[in-house]
Amino acid sequence: MTEVENKLPAETPLSPKKRAIIVGASSGIGAALAHRLADEGFLVALLARRAEMLEKLTNEINSKHGETRAINYIHDVTDYESVPELLKKIISDLGGLDTFVYNAGISVMVGLKKYDFEKDRQTFDVNLNGALAWLNPVAELFQNLKSGQIVGVSSVAGERGRVGNPSYNVSKAALTCYLEALRNRLTRYGVNVLTVKPGPVETDMIKDVDGVLFPISAEQAAGDIFNAMRKRKQEVYTSARWRWIMLVVRNIPSFIFRKMTF
Ligand SMILES: NC(=O)c1ccc[n+]([C@@H]2O[C@H](COP(=O)([O-])OP(=O)(O)OC[C@H]3O[C@@H](n4cnc5c(N)ncnc54)[C@H](OP(=O)(O)O)[C@@H]3O)[C@@H](O)[C@H]2O)c1
Repeated sequence: MTEVENKLPAETPLSPKKRAIIVGASSGIGAALAHRLADEGFLVALLARRAEMLEKLTNEINSKHGETRAINYIHDVTDYESVPELLKKIISDLGGLDTFVYNAGISVMVGLKKYDFEKDRQTFDVNLNGALAWLNPVAELFQNLKSGQIVGVSSVAGERGRVGNPSYNVSKAALTCYLEALRNRLTRYGVNVLTVKPGPVETDMIKDVDGVLFPISAEQAAGDIFNAMRKRKQEVYTSARWRWIMLVVRNIPSFIFRKMTF
């Protein structure tokens, strides 16, 4: 038994423990989901770069429950080579894995009339390549186990190419498409793949953006995600009204969309 495993509460028939990894857990939606999963009895492994934020969150969760329900690992998702070993270590520490959440994401603004490959590449490295680095080995594991749940936090922003932040739109469109492909591969093995499409959520990511439409709290987003996980849905918009807003937005003809400034 590893040192970390020793600290985790043991699973018993009357107290079954689900084990989850959240990549991108230090703030916002990831942190709120960490709380929610721990509240629901999960053991959670929390990953991100900011050590202090992760430590604070871990302590909050563990003192709230009076036992170790959260452990953390400092990790930068662009350190792709480290993923297979780290995944093995976390699974060994948790004593297994039932749920994997890829939530890490950045939005690097370029400017309405500007073009910047370096910023575009950073966006892709975190939002897409980091997701592939983690989801490939997790998909293979769950395929072999014939069980498990994958949750990918994409965005409504992936549904159209817009003037404001093209590379963010593309990174999320690609992530959504990749998650669909994973679902088509893995459903036959009993693995659920949930694509999360948030509209605006009040987190650090949008703190400098003015005039966002229908923002919700990170806790509300986490609640919607958890309900969708429980029902083993394939896709969830949070809040739910964004399903209908995006139905309209997806169908705005290009000759009108080209004149829009959002
Ligand atoms: N807020 C919104 O309106 C909104 C809307 C649609 C979709 N989303 C998506 O929701 C997800 C969560 O975002 P949020 O709104 O909760 O913003 P946030 O508070 O900024 O959270 C982003 C998370 O990603 C992690 N992250 C970023 N770069 C990373 C890296 N290189 N390595 C490891 N972790 C990294 C951050 O941790 P560290 O910085 O500590 O590494 C943080 O935990 C993102 O995928 C975002 O695209 C958000």
